[in-house]
Amino acid sequence: MQLTYLGHSCFLMETAGKRIIIDPFISGNELAEVVKADDIKADYILLTHGHQDHILDAEKIAKNNNAVIVSNFEIATYYEKMGLKSHPMNHGGSWKFDFGTVKYTPAIHSSSFPDGTYAGNPGGFVINNEEGTYYFSGDTSLDMNMKLIPLLNPGLTFAVLPIGNNFTMDIEEAIYASDFLGCNRIIGCHFDTFGYIKIDKEEARRRFAERDKELVIMEIGEKSEF
Ligand code: NI
Ligand code: MN
Repeated sequence: MQLTYLGHSCFLMETAGKRIIIDPFISGNELAEVVKADDIKADYILLTHGHQDHILDAEKIAKNNNAVIVSNFEIATYYEKMGLKSHPMNHGGSWKFDFGTVKYTPAIHSSSFPDGTYAGNPGGFVINNEEGTYYFSGDTSLDMNMKLIPLLNPGLTFAVLPIGNNFTMDIEEAIYASDFLGCNRIIGCHFDTFGYIKIDKEEARRRFAERDKELVIMEIGEKSEF
């Protein structure tokens, strides 16, 4: 699979012949000027929760591409009412899509749309197909629920975790999460975009390396093969 980092918590996965974008926040991200939301091609849009920094460009990308929005029941219904295609899920449920199986997992956070509309409970996704198994935790604190993920999905290819602190877990907790997940390759997200979440990236990498773990911090626009 190929993974492109589009800034903040937004990634584009290319796997099984499909393009899946997660948490598109592009047009509002000053750091992501190399990416244009209008240029994004996607078959699916996965949304972890309703906060602005995760859904800002979802409507535009869905309309431009006739893409399917996959999220919790409340978020899926919100977009369905706009006439967009959606697939509703909830915690612990999984569904076999044409690019792989997706499970919606719990997250410790909050979830409402920018206009105050209730956006269900926040979550993350485990995506599994013949190419690998990938976990995107969404915004969350460190959570004992993460220990359940490798029971059903052993040998994660990577886990994408927030590392910016203040709104989510920090570097130290991401290291514990890595242990809970049985996955030593962590891709960092949710850092540097706003003043509250600026981090020292070199120090973060060093702290992971000290525990024999890898922290991957991708450049915005960078594409990697996993
Ligand atoms: Ni959030
Ligand atoms: Mn966020």
